[in-house]
Amino acid sequence: ETAVLKDKFGRVHDYIRISVTDRCPLRCVYCMPKEGLPFFPSDKVLSQDEIVQLVKNFARHGIHSIRLTGGEPLVRTDIVDIVRRIKAIDGIDDVAATTNGLYLPKKAAALKAAGLDRLNISLDTFKADRYKEITRGGNIKQVMAGIQTAADLGYKAIKLNVVLINGENDSEIIDFLKYTLDHRVNVRFIEYMPIGADKAVWKKEYLGLERVFEVCKAAGFKYDPIDSLTGNGPSDNYRIKGAKGSFGLIHPISCNFCESCNRLRITADGYVKACLFWNEEINIRSAIFDDQAFDHLIQKALDNKPENHEMALSQADQIIHKQPTWRHMSQIGG
Ligand code: GTP
Ligand code: 5AD
Ligand code: SF4
Repeated sequence: ETAVLKDKFGRVHDYIRISVTDRCPLRCVYCMPKEGLPFFPSDKVLSQDEIVQLVKNFARHGIHSIRLTGGEPLVRTDIVDIVRRIKAIDGIDDVAATTNGLYLPKKAAALKAAGLDRLNISLDTFKADRYKEITRGGNIKQVMAGIQTAADLGYKAIKLNVVLINGENDSEIIDFLKYTLDHRVNVRFIEYMPIGADKAVWKKEYLGLERVFEVCKAAGFKYDPIDSLTGNGPSDNYRIKGAKGSFGLIHPISCNFCESCNRLRITADGYVKACLFWNEEINIRSAIFDDQAFDHLIQKALDNKPENHEMALSQADQIIHKQPTWRHMSQIGG
């Protein structure tokens, strides 16, 4: 029998984000500390069989959409097998990945053949030197080649994730908007979230997404809201008149979307996180192959899910939160 996953506030959950590794060859400034993080030893990370069984368990509860995240999910040598096996599960109709794009030239074709439906690719700048700075060492040519490979393969919906960093890439909002004119992609501007970040640095570098509309208007672009995009996330989407692509806004800070939260997260080391910002986690690993124990723990995670992230700015303009998560973004998967 299937039972829908509902929390105390009546929110139905139909979307799971699974972090398949905490490893990434990059150390983006908003995601990992400068010195990097010690990676989990491999026996701490969920195995392929565990991930597949997890998805089967969730499918029993009406989950139809899975997003694979990291770290960088494509560093897993068995990522193609993972995609093939979860896509074959009854009820799973949408398998997507969020990636830095670096390995797409090598892996995008095999992933597509295995059934991967959609790709969200991180790209915060078009400039080689700035890319190197933000990612702490990445080569932009590699990700541009990755985007091209994915487009050539005919992936249904390619999205580019742009985390806005005040004073760093906000001057490029206009370039990203122009990019949507002649590329069939969805460019999503994302508010910088203070997870794992130094709060003083965050405060300086956070920029609300109202800026995107200001830039759009100043450029004389006419745009309309659209709702026809494939996706399960929190993005509000728009199309500039005549553009092939579109742009989206993800604004967890300036205007939180918790009311429509429909997702749970599984960390690479097997914990359920009901809310991205909260420290509360439940270890689900030992219950993966025990239906009853699994159902019990998942319901417990849902029962403890907060109504919203409960972040607030103090009078001193510092971000305050009741229960900030100890994890860095790279250990949650965004
Ligand atoms: P689709 O809409 O299905 O394509 O996926 P998505 O936008 O949810 O996935 P993606 O991994 O590309 O996430 C884009 C950005 O949205 C990242 O910065 C995520 O951290 C952020 N995000 C996704 N879900 C949530 C959420 O539940 N809460 C918050 N605060 N941020 C989220
Ligand atoms: N704030 C907002 N978005 C973030 N991401 C990683 N760290 C942060 C942060 N602190 C984004 C990445 C990636 C997605 C999974 O989350 O750019 O596209
Ligand atoms: Fe859901 Fe928490 Fe994100 Fe709000 S902040 S949308 S409750 S995960």
